[in-house]
Amino acid sequence: MATEKNRVAIVPGQGQALEVVDAELSHPGPGEILVRNEAVAVQPLDAKMLHAGYGGAGSIEKYPVILGTAGAGTVQAVGEDVSELAVGDRVVFNTRALVKFETNKREGTWQKFVIVRSQTAAKIGDVSFEQAVLVDFPLQTAVAALNLYLGMEKPGKGTEDEKVLVWGAGGAVGSYAVQYAKSVGHTVVVTASQKDVARQTRLGASAVIDYKAADAVDQLRKLGPYKYLFSASGDPASQKALASLLPDGGRFASVLGGEVDLPSDVERVYKPFSQAAQHDENQEWRSWWYGEYLSDVLRNGLVDPVSHLKVSGGLEALQEASTDVFEGKVRGKVIVNPQE
Ligand SMILES: NC(=O)c1ccc[n+]([C@@H]2O[C@H](COP(=O)([O-])OP(=O)(O)OC[C@H]3O[C@@H](n4cnc5c(N)ncnc54)[C@H](OP(=O)(O)O)[C@@H]3O)[C@@H](O)[C@H]2O)c1
Repeated sequence: MATEKNRVAIVPGQGQALEVVDAELSHPGPGEILVRNEAVAVQPLDAKMLHAGYGGAGSIEKYPVILGTAGAGTVQAVGEDVSELAVGDRVVFNTRALVKFETNKREGTWQKFVIVRSQTAAKIGDVSFEQAVLVDFPLQTAVAALNLYLGMEKPGKGTEDEKVLVWGAGGAVGSYAVQYAKSVGHTVVVTASQKDVARQTRLGASAVIDYKAADAVDQLRKLGPYKYLFSASGDPASQKALASLLPDGGRFASVLGGEVDLPSDVERVYKPFSQAAQHDENQEWRSWWYGEYLSDVLRNGLVDPVSHLKVSGGLEALQEASTDVFEGKVRGKVIVNPQE
């Protein structure tokens, strides 16, 4: 398959605007694939990294840097020892761009051609690149938090009498957390804004409490107790609320950390959940995620993807899109095709 020239969106230095420039094409080493990148979704992490040099997952160690850890596209070349993927396969993927900084130039996904470890790519069949890229990063965040770190079962293995609380279910991570917990078989209670009640109910919530209500915690207490608690908004108010629903201690997961005064018998589980599959200690989980679950979910339409806005302009459009995400102006995800 003929390859074109590579082009990348580079952050030259902290707080500086993206520069889109030509770049050399990388070649896949053992266990790697080269992907023609057809869709990226701007995540809050990317926007924070671009605008503040920090995204909760860590500070940017060295500039220039290429952001983005997720994408979807077509396999262009395969390295040695890659047997499960072939040239022409359509895949969704996540990379180590922000986990292992020295690989960033090859693996940052804000470029036309990206190097990906074959273990962290899933075949998507004829699912569109846009639909696929809407799912992997935030769904992985939700499922890593619930299944890998809090110990919730896999789909079909849970029971209705065990309740799950998802705080801040309105965003991508929250919406997927609701759907995963429901697919496991649990009763799911959420907090979300009132305009989102119908959608949350359709996704699987049995009760939707307005997180802005003064008595939100009292309402939630009456609907509990909860076996699994997850803040998908991660703000300090949500963390305090979840802790107060654990009168005998326990733990909850949160997408964000920060200095929050919590009772000593309450553990906050805060991890870079979106990068769970990149860590070799999670090898077994990664095989399930990329080898089975993600393809199954996408090809069989098992989750309702969050809404999205596709913007034209290719890599050049990422600056404005990231600013909009950083300023909280976007509902759903903004998608860009680096090939445009
Ligand atoms: N630790 C990790 O691995 C990890 C991974 C992914 C994301 N994150 C972080 O998780 C957060 C959410 O990411 P996302 O992709 O789901 O974002 P998103 O799709 O942009 O979600 C934003 C939505 O969340 C809801 N929300 C915002 N603030 C809230 C609050 N204080 N209380 C309750 N709900 C609130 C709002 O929905 P309504 O207006 O409908 O209420 C808002 O539209 C971001 O801060 C992101 O950086 C962390």
